[in-house]
Amino acid sequence: MTDGKDGRGFGKGLTNYGDKAFSLYLRRSFASSMGYSREMLDRPIVGIVDTRSGFNNCHRHFPELIEATRRGVLAEGALPVVFPTISLGEVFLNPTSLKFRNLMSIDTEEMIRAQPVDSVVLVGGCDKTVPAQLMGAVSAGLPAVQLVAGPMSTSRYRGERLGACTDCRRFWGRYRAGEVSDQDIDRIEGRLATTAGTCAVMGTASTMAIIAEALGMMPAGSAAVPAVDAERLRIGEETGRLAARLIGSGRTPDRIITEKSVENALRVLLAIGGSTNGIIHLTAIAGRAGIQVDLDRLNALSDTTPVLLDLKPSGQHYMEDFDAAGGVPALLAELKHLLHLDCPTVTGETLGERIGSGPAWVDRNVIRTVKDPIAPVGGLVALFGNLAPRGAILKRSAADPGLFERTGRAVVFTSLEDLARRIDDPALDVHPDDFLVLQNAGPTSDSAMPEAGYLPIPSRLAKSGVKDMVRISDARMSGTAFGTIVLHVSPDAAAGGTLGLVRDGDRIRLSVAERRIELLVDEAELARRRAGAPPPPAAAPRGYARLYQDEILQADQGCDFRFLQHPSLQR
Ligand code: FES
Repeated sequence: MTDGKDGRGFGKGLTNYGDKAFSLYLRRSFASSMGYSREMLDRPIVGIVDTRSGFNNCHRHFPELIEATRRGVLAEGALPVVFPTISLGEVFLNPTSLKFRNLMSIDTEEMIRAQPVDSVVLVGGCDKTVPAQLMGAVSAGLPAVQLVAGPMSTSRYRGERLGACTDCRRFWGRYRAGEVSDQDIDRIEGRLATTAGTCAVMGTASTMAIIAEALGMMPAGSAAVPAVDAERLRIGEETGRLAARLIGSGRTPDRIITEKSVENALRVLLAIGGSTNGIIHLTAIAGRAGIQVDLDRLNALSDTTPVLLDLKPSGQHYMEDFDAAGGVPALLAELKHLLHLDCPTVTGETLGERIGSGPAWVDRNVIRTVKDPIAPVGGLVALFGNLAPRGAILKRSAADPGLFERTGRAVVFTSLEDLARRIDDPALDVHPDDFLVLQNAGPTSDSAMPEAGYLPIPSRLAKSGVKDMVRISDARMSGTAFGTIVLHVSPDAAAGGTLGLVRDGDRIRLSVAERRIELLVDEAELARRRAGAPPPPAAAPRGYARLYQDEILQADQGCDFRFLQHPSLQR
């Protein structure tokens, strides 16, 4: 135990009054006012990062989960101290949660660094919270363990199983097509998300939880356990214990998040048919450790990684089924021959030791074998070409292969507002074989890269039975969506990318086989359009919007801020 003078616990990182003994005396005095005994004040401290918020339904069970975590810390002889940071509730933020991910990462990093904690438990879950916490923790350089919310449980409506948010979109699409009544959509609205926890399918939150476990930043088997299951509380307790044992171990996140573990995480992202957002977030997390994610490498991995999970939106099941089927340990055991097994994890075991011989029983309806995969190749591919010189992403596992090799006529929307105004206009000149193009929805646009890449099928076509079209944008897409959707076009239109030069009637060639996305307009015409392009938007006058505008990087760099990346990557 610390006596408060060995640089641990309340004796760590003293407030500077020019007299260290006075600073310690004052801090102890103020800490005592919270009712701690002297014995508790002398303990090393595990900080528990609490991201509950009235604007975050996914984290509504955190009081109970954090209580279990505190129990684990106390059992190991350390003192748990809970502190808040920003929380990002996906559907409550305008213009979009991604804009604030880096702000949350700054908050997390600086509060870990500034306060007297010896290790931390990062309690998060909703889409951007886990990447923000991991980014901040890597940069802060203190031992850290991730504890996730766990997925929501599914509910029922008229005998049909419902889970946010693939079913949200499915029913909304049917409502737009006139197949679901006003009354029914109202009732369904109340049944889509009925428990605490993160979205019930392979959305971004599930993807990031699995990635965190694959990276080695969480206890084995902790990613997929439902939020409301008693096992989730036992994981909280175990995580608290682990964080206490990490104190003084030197096992900091940058020792766990390495080139090899990032490659493992990419493999896993591909094998689970993970959210396209996972690429952006993993790139940003890796960037904090000085590791660059190369989209050509992603394609090479994609060609040799089968999709093994039968989960929505690519498949049939929900996260609670994945957990019951064996969860991440079963998945990793199946992928063992493709992984770097010597990677260290937060528990001190290597990944290979963690996997061992795998679980005794696996439900193969949900977690398939490599010999009987859902798809023989990975769920995501990067596309390149004059339309996306720095890459674009297509989630082929959630797309219609019948649309993969074709040339189409562009129907262009110049902004989100333009899209909202005209997409359902009965006079819109659009056919099922056209390519819908959305501009100015990328990271440098005013809209800050919302999940708007899932452009709605124009209602006239939807009502005639059209279910999918090629859609291209510099936006993102929810991991819960389905469609032939080319995203993250980089550089984005607002930064002067070719996407901003597309005009109605242009021809665009998509070839998933060749990994190409080409605007079939000659260079002279593009130069003419470039010369006539409108000036960039006016600078934000102040505050975080100004910082965002000045520092945001493109999707292929994880949309981090330049100055937050590892110094070796800043250029
Ligand atoms: Fe929080 Fe989906 S809204 S994970």
